[in-house]
Amino acid sequence: MSFETHDARERTKQIQNEFAEKGDALGWFEALYKEAAGDNEKIPWADLQPNKFLRQWAERANLRGDNRKALVVGCGLGDDARFLYDLGFNVTAFDISATAIKWARRLHADTDIKFVVADLFAPLKDWYQAFDFVLEVYTIQPLPLDMRKDVIDAIANFVGLKGKLAVVTRGREDDEQPLELPWALSRKDLSRFEENGLKQINFEEMDGDEETPIKRFVVEYERPSSFQWVEIQ
Ligand SMILES: C[S@@+](CC[C@H](N)C(=O)[O-])C[C@H]1O[C@@H](n2cnc3c(N)ncnc32)[C@H](O)[C@@H]1O
Repeated sequence: MSFETHDARERTKQIQNEFAEKGDALGWFEALYKEAAGDNEKIPWADLQPNKFLRQWAERANLRGDNRKALVVGCGLGDDARFLYDLGFNVTAFDISATAIKWARRLHADTDIKFVVADLFAPLKDWYQAFDFVLEVYTIQPLPLDMRKDVIDAIANFVGLKGKLAVVTRGREDDEQPLELPWALSRKDLSRFEENGLKQINFEEMDGDEETPIKRFVVEYERPSSFQWVEIQ
């Protein structure tokens, strides 16, 4: 890890802590983007490239947009939204940070991606089960563990009938304690998507190229085309 990346991570934790002490779990994102003042190296996750675990999975899955409606959750500077756009999706991407959305619009001004300022917990009403493909990359893991179920419920709600969801996240074992930001997800955490009526159709575990490799999960879900009765014995 370079000094710049290390410094950016330390500063991020500091800002997150300052807001957490005030009981504000969400305000630090806007504060961080604002303080970065257009320098993406100040944002630990913003490398101006599509997420590499997403790219690898999409290549294997031969992901194609075919003008289907995609929603990118917590899109930050919009590189994953751009990736889906280039694959032929009709893309809406949102983030709670107005500064991030302004920045993403500037970076991807040559596209017609709809970049929207919105809070996952108060989304537009017509987004309910409205998308063919929903993408979530690293938005669940920086939000406090006591919000995890609500975050997952909110994301699941965007997936339309027969629609799909891909989740890219840091992963941990069910019996491992996530000690510091970002708080990795376990398979047990992820099972909440299934409680929301989604079916897991693919699960991949990959190692990052960090000095001590960090585990990532890329998980794919589908919402069945209709409600399925479960026979109770
Ligand atoms: C760790 S960053 C990841 C950004 C992007 N997905 C990426 O991988 O580069 C988490 C993002 O989620 C956004 N976010 C956090 N809470 C949110 C919420 N309640 N509603 C919408 N976006 C949120 C943050 O502003 C931030 O851009």
